[in-house]
Amino acid sequence: MNSMAESKSKILIIGVTGNLGFELAKASLNASHRTLGLVRESAFSDSNKLQKLQFLSNAGLDICKGSLQDEESLVKYLKHVDVVICAVSAKQVLDQKLLVPAIKRAGCIKRFFPSEFGLDPDKTRISHLDHDFYLRKSEIRRLVEAEGIPYTYICCNFYTSYLLPSLVQPGLQAPPRDKVCIFGDGNVKGVFVKESDVAAFTISTVDDPRTLNKVLYLRPPGNTLSMNELIDIWEKKIGKSLERNYISEEELLKRIHETPFPDNMQMVFIYSGFVKGDQTYFDIESSNGVEGTQLYPYIKYTTISEYLDTLL
Ligand SMILES: NC(=O)c1ccc[n+]([C@@H]2O[C@H](COP(=O)([O-])OP(=O)(O)OC[C@H]3O[C@@H](n4cnc5c(N)ncnc54)[C@H](OP(=O)(O)O)[C@@H]3O)[C@@H](O)[C@H]2O)c1
Repeated sequence: MNSMAESKSKILIIGVTGNLGFELAKASLNASHRTLGLVRESAFSDSNKLQKLQFLSNAGLDICKGSLQDEESLVKYLKHVDVVICAVSAKQVLDQKLLVPAIKRAGCIKRFFPSEFGLDPDKTRISHLDHDFYLRKSEIRRLVEAEGIPYTYICCNFYTSYLLPSLVQPGLQAPPRDKVCIFGDGNVKGVFVKESDVAAFTISTVDDPRTLNKVLYLRPPGNTLSMNELIDIWEKKIGKSLERNYISEEELLKRIHETPFPDNMQMVFIYSGFVKGDQTYFDIESSNGVEGTQLYPYIKYTTISEYLDTLL
């Protein structure tokens, strides 16, 4: 190993076969961190996951067989690293209750990144609608803080792959070319960041004291747009005006209540991002936050306009 890699934290990533975890592992290896991936046995019999593991292993990932449920092997791997990044899915967030005591037992972890990677769970004011999606993430924060584990929480807002491929139209697979629904008055700004950029920002924070015990917000100026602005950009690209149908906040709430869970969650996220706009209306300093694009101006993130070009 070269000396640059030796001076950098060793990172264990949980969830390298998943969507974000794979990007995190690539970014970590790219930045010359010694990188370990905790992988469940079942992943090896899934051809897509096996392909990802082969790719990462060729790039230098050390694969560690285990799971959050296997505390002994978990503690053994934790003792080899300085930093843990967890990227289990939203459904598995409370499984991190197994990880926190293991981190405590290992005693060597200088920083933990729980699986968040979305809107700030302590700031998002829709908990009555979301079946405790954000409450579960907040619960893990409180556990981490109660145990005195050093942390960084990553609040990256929406992944570009989540709502942007449909131009924020629930149920569509591609952006509309005739008519479009706009929720609320269409002037509330939401934020999108590409997963590979989320990963690059996350890995940049690992050894940065400015982000220790802080919330890292990602709100790139070029990617913070209202639905009206988003549609303006799309119209220019396709050279055509769309029929704009405004859906009031009350109507969106009615649709959310009438649609069974979890099918209504996409509308819940649209409500929190583009009607309530929680992520753009608070002062990050009073929220124990730092802004990723200000700390790492050299990271060339993908803009919404560039992303929309890939959908033409
Ligand atoms: N901001 C947004 O727009 C947005 C969108 C989607 C997700 N997210 C957030 O991003 C984070 C990651 O979600 P994702 O969609 O990337 O997840 P994902 O693709 O479902 O991947 C989950 C990963 O966790 C692993 N895993 C699950 N349970 C495990 C266990 N008990 N032990 C070890 N590994 C385990 C899975 O391994 P196997 O391969 O063995 O199953 C898989 O690698 C979540 O916090 C989610 O809420 C944000």
